[in-house]
Amino acid sequence: MTSVHPFSRFFIRQGYPDFLDLPWNKPLASWPEHCSYIVEVERGLSRHEVVFINYNNEIFAIKELPTRVGEREYRLLRELEKKKLPSVLPVGFAHLQNDKEREGERSILITKFLDAIPYRSLFLKSGMERYQDRLLNAIAVLLVRLHLNGFYWGDCSLSNALFRRDAGELQAYLVDAETSEGPFDRLSNGQRQHDLMIMEENIDGALADLSMVVKLPESFTTFETGEKIKQQYLQLWEEITHEEIFASDEHYRIQERIHRINELGFSVDEVELIPTEEGNQLRMRVIVTDQNYHRNQLHALTGIEGEEKQARQIMNDIYELKATLSKRKKETIPLRSVAFHWTNKIYLPIITRLGLLDKVNKAPEIYCQILEHKWYLSEKAKHDVGLNTSVKDYARRFQKQTNSK
Ligand SMILES: Nc1ncnc2c1ncn2[C@@H]1O[C@H](COP(=O)(O)OP(=O)(O)O)[C@@H](O)[C@H]1O
Ligand SMILES: [Mg+2]
Repeated sequence: MTSVHPFSRFFIRQGYPDFLDLPWNKPLASWPEHCSYIVEVERGLSRHEVVFINYNNEIFAIKELPTRVGEREYRLLRELEKKKLPSVLPVGFAHLQNDKEREGERSILITKFLDAIPYRSLFLKSGMERYQDRLLNAIAVLLVRLHLNGFYWGDCSLSNALFRRDAGELQAYLVDAETSEGPFDRLSNGQRQHDLMIMEENIDGALADLSMVVKLPESFTTFETGEKIKQQYLQLWEEITHEEIFASDEHYRIQERIHRINELGFSVDEVELIPTEEGNQLRMRVIVTDQNYHRNQLHALTGIEGEEKQARQIMNDIYELKATLSKRKKETIPLRSVAFHWTNKIYLPIITRLGLLDKVNKAPEIYCQILEHKWYLSEKAKHDVGLNTSVKDYARRFQKQTNSK
């Protein structure tokens, strides 16, 4: 007897709706005719059918793909989530069985909609020019982060990533893990090189296509952009993973190295020291976990979730406040109490004033823009204009855009 249910198995993550009233027995391509939840959003190019639904005021992406591939993508996205790597969040996965001929061969993957910018918008929309160059670095950093954590992407491309603003830079998120593998304890050099090769081909190909539609900036030569990203990747990889040898009495070299890695935003899990054969020198290997050093610090101190560069900028602001308050009180104030003061007396009032209290995703970025605006105004005025003036001026100039974004 065939089941009355259009799926044979359906996994749904805790905290999400059950989606049972979606038109499961219809091919995804025809959902727009059968389902009132469908919404249009900006999106990249895709191989499979992908639609977006607004379900109880939350947007989800739904992709139909062969079951074996879908299963693997769902599992991989869960692994990426466990490691807190930047990727779309898997919400559900269903094995479909409505098509008698190909029973069980099709599946549906549901991911939470990531409110981010597809690369084409960075080139096709005005006002995005300042971000175009940052795109290259964002991809290089994402590849380094995946590789450090033992993930092979297998299809790094402009369409398979999405971009979020991060304190004037961009942070890349992985959106398509269909061909990915991992986590391995360690990726081999061959795996890393293969991933870079695929990235180069994909990126140069996408830019060649894009150059037919729009004039690309000079820095984006279609045949060299992939190579540029590779060079940025290799430089960052070397900086993070190279081994150092130093004399046994040069202890400071350990802290120096950790500091440099933290400056790049990466966290150090372990430092391994091995005496060299001569015995009077040490070989240092640093185990780096992920680029979340400032994010973790900011979150632990204030509960605010931001991107890495936002968190770094905000931590600098908190350190500056620490210096000011300590000077005023003529004693060193602990970072924790400064962070408490900053959250309640500075951050929350500004966020409230700008009507961003319920937009927790956007608030840290706007706060960073206000800091930047303060530097801009202060430079023009040739003295520190203060945060209040910056908030006022920012609200006057940009508020309408902020709230509608
Ligand atoms: N969770 C999501 N949030 C935002 N956009 C998404 C999401 N999932 C997919 N997209 C958009 O849909 C496009 C296609 O998705 P992708 O998973 O790459 O499909 P395919 O496997 O067919 O290539 C992506 O480029 C992206 O723009
Ligand atoms: Mg894709």
